[in-house]
Amino acid sequence: MTAEKAILTLGDKKIELPVIRGTEGDVAVDVSRLYEEHRILTYDPSLGSTAVCQSKITFINGEEGILRYRGIPIEQFVTKTPNFIEVAYLLIKEKLPTMTELLEFRTLLENNELLHENLRYQFRNIPAGAPPMAQLSAMLSNLACFHRDLLVLDNDEEFLQVAARLISKIRTIAASSYRRSKGLPYIYPDPNLRYCANFLHMMFSIPYKQYEISPAVEDALNLILILHADHEQNCSTATVRTVGSARANLFASCAAGVSALWGPLHGGANVEVMEMLKGIHDGGLSPEDCIRMAKDKQNPFRLFGFGHRIYKNYDPRAKILRDASDKVFSQLKMKERDPLLDIARKLEELALKDPYFVERKLYPNVDFYSGILLRAMHIPTNMFTVMFAIGRLPGWIAQWKELHDTPNSKIMRPRQIYVGTPKTDYIPREKR
Ligand code: CMC
Repeated sequence: MTAEKAILTLGDKKIELPVIRGTEGDVAVDVSRLYEEHRILTYDPSLGSTAVCQSKITFINGEEGILRYRGIPIEQFVTKTPNFIEVAYLLIKEKLPTMTELLEFRTLLENNELLHENLRYQFRNIPAGAPPMAQLSAMLSNLACFHRDLLVLDNDEEFLQVAARLISKIRTIAASSYRRSKGLPYIYPDPNLRYCANFLHMMFSIPYKQYEISPAVEDALNLILILHADHEQNCSTATVRTVGSARANLFASCAAGVSALWGPLHGGANVEVMEMLKGIHDGGLSPEDCIRMAKDKQNPFRLFGFGHRIYKNYDPRAKILRDASDKVFSQLKMKERDPLLDIARKLEELALKDPYFVERKLYPNVDFYSGILLRAMHIPTNMFTVMFAIGRLPGWIAQWKELHDTPNSKIMRPRQIYVGTPKTDYIPREKR
């Protein structure tokens, strides 16, 4: 069988390019040797039409709103309720764990949940009110100072050790950054608690008074973390891969991922959504104002929690969270329904019938409803993106590992088209 080719015609030149097809029908023209062999660049500034790797981790079909982890549809992680740890294992170890493997993994996380006391003391020097995302990125990077033996990974066992340290300690760091921002004492992890419950304990217990963990809150957190666990080559994951491509260690690569995630167009959108909903609730804005502002090209305002580079349909994660919100509110036995949920529903209703959003295929994304659930769990707004990071960490780790294991993988080094001043002479200072 002859290999499939695409033909690029440029002037009188015809260039044959290999074609790659993914298992779900994605088609890509392989231009990786185009520059080397023909001195031609491809131009795709935000990589919207460029596949930077072949991956076996996550599949998304944005037109149909499909998301699968290692082939399993995201909806099955809701109906069959695995825990986040199981999903993390699936992503990083490429298979669902047996009961024994799951218990071993849980024990490994348990054994790594404490922070080195010297690392913990570093929180003292961070000013109260410091953004938790800044603390998270700094502290993940700092872990490299305390695990210097794991900066270069020689085998899968060492990789698993670093993965476990990161997945376990990120909770402890995240909760500590919140405690620090509130001037509250640090709470040690409790090895008897499950992953999500342990995080809630570190966030909300006080010395000598254990926080009472509601199963509804624990379940909702588990769901949120699972839904964020991976999302193929998004901005933060692409960052982790880029940093990792220089053979930077896993701690540094994940810390870089946190920084990328912080941006309001990416993970930081969940904070923006909350500010927007509160703004409407407090009377500064109406849902109609928001829609008008979002459509106004002279106004930088965007309808946060709407739109997605890949999804041109309802983000399946948003659908799950929207449907879960009513259930969670009733399970939490909240005296009254959060008025912000009604505002979100109204915004959604207006946007989904507005030609601006319809024509551009802008639908709610994962950040639209996640904040309302986090708020119901008393997670403060400045921790929303941190929660996203805790969820996304297994995805970053799995993607870094996949890159690490790719034979002959090269450093990421995009090209550019120079459009600046042609060669010119230096002008001495006194003559300028
Ligand atoms: N509100 C108003 N207009 C929008 C929005 C929005 N939320 N999103 C996209 N548009 C418009 C945009 O102005 C553009 O219009 P035109 O064609 O007239 O120039 C068109 O829709 C296409 O948008 P784009 O910015 O070219 O699309 P993109 O793929 O580069 O950006 C996005 C994707 C998610 C950054 C963008 O939709 C956005 O800024 N949304 C709001 C921020 C947000 O919710 N981010 C969370 C993303 S999901 C979770 C995650 O991955 O972090």
